[in-house]
Amino acid sequence: MPGTWNPGRWRGLPIKQQPTWPDAAALASARERLETSPPLVFAGEARRLRERLARVCEGRAFLLQGGDCAESFAEFHPDTVRDTFRVLLQMAVVLTYGAKLPVVKVGRLAGQFAKPRSADTETVDGITLPAYRGDMINGMAFGEEERTPEPQRLLRAYSQSASTLNLLRALAQGGYADLHAVHRWNLGFVAESTQGARYEALANQIGETLDFMAACGLTEETSPQIRETEFYTSHEALLLEYEQALTRIDSTTGGWYDCSAHMLWIGDRTRQADGAHVDFLSGVGNPLGLKAGPTLEPDDLLRLIDRLNPRNEPGKLTVITRMGHGAIEAKLPPLVRAVAGEGRHVVWACDPMHGNTIKSSNGYKTRIFDQVMAEVQGFFAVHRAEGTHPGGVHFEMTGQDVTECLGGAQAITEEDLSNRYHTHCDPRLNASQALELAFLIAEHLREERASTVQPQALHG
Ligand code: PEP
Ligand code: CO
Repeated sequence: MPGTWNPGRWRGLPIKQQPTWPDAAALASARERLETSPPLVFAGEARRLRERLARVCEGRAFLLQGGDCAESFAEFHPDTVRDTFRVLLQMAVVLTYGAKLPVVKVGRLAGQFAKPRSADTETVDGITLPAYRGDMINGMAFGEEERTPEPQRLLRAYSQSASTLNLLRALAQGGYADLHAVHRWNLGFVAESTQGARYEALANQIGETLDFMAACGLTEETSPQIRETEFYTSHEALLLEYEQALTRIDSTTGGWYDCSAHMLWIGDRTRQADGAHVDFLSGVGNPLGLKAGPTLEPDDLLRLIDRLNPRNEPGKLTVITRMGHGAIEAKLPPLVRAVAGEGRHVVWACDPMHGNTIKSSNGYKTRIFDQVMAEVQGFFAVHRAEGTHPGGVHFEMTGQDVTECLGGAQAITEEDLSNRYHTHCDPRLNASQALELAFLIAEHLREERASTVQPQALHG
């Protein structure tokens, strides 16, 4: 590697998935503005998330990560942010009960604006233009001006991220996240869902537990845990111009942190061990994610772990597998064995979205609810067989009532897709599908515990 690490060393390395900026001076000026803008998160918060993830790594907590595939400028609205946050909280309560473990909540938002694409260009009616790469880079509409990468978009993404984060902090700390309110929303879901009867027993048990806790004196007045929650942000660190500009030295430790989000991940298409993205993230103190698709071989994974978590710290690295429901049971065990065999500490999380994307017969990019759930079940089955902790799940989801994924209790059909297909990139679970998945996973976790829990673990 050329010289010691610094936030700009990536510039000398092979890099994938970056736009070609036509106006270098405009890019430099946007970068300078970002470099003097306040950090969005603090290093101490990123360290606290790493501690939380260390508990996940040790099997003492569960990770829930979710949000939009891509945030958009046009759809930015406080209600949208609130609704996504709300569904994540609802899912977290259900999962906490199912797993009997604390759930670490990490949003895919406040920075998730840059997308890897399968081709650099798109051709429509004989006209070829740059592909849409996310609102931080260019516009989605197919036109020369919209598709030209525009550096001012970096500043707009930063500013939208700052507003989003500000709202999330208020929602998490200001009383909105009160456990009793979240439980009431879940009861509302159970009452409305056509599959509600199936989830009623679990929801009622949660209600009785809350009543019992209140009787013991654990209320919103006495216990901040009842009325507040910890919520963290994450996105794919794809556009390194943006990430570098927000990377700062932490005055407490003297180390570098990427202050654009608490956690950053490397996508499946940019995880080359000697490439720019791995090099850039190898130098920051944040907890990191690594997407692992079916082409990742065990040796490559070990090499990446050497680069991204050389000190083998629990919580530093989360491997987010996204194999596809048909491949998970064949592809995951060799990775898990290689990592366990070398004694490397990672959090294992399951992204059941990106390996299960299909095209509907009427031309929509979509995903089938049952296949998403099947990949999650395969993930749990592999970890049970290997004796490792299934650390968490990673979803593309929204709090809105969109029609982008097929199936679920609402039984969304191919004909329904056109009704409310709003995503700027990949199809997301809607609020009801996301919550339904959380209930199904909670049921599954409870069954697993019933068959495997040792008496002493109940008190541990
Ligand atoms: C994503 O998370 O939106 C994404 C592009 O995932 P992956 O890198 O796993 O394909
Ligand atoms: Co996606």
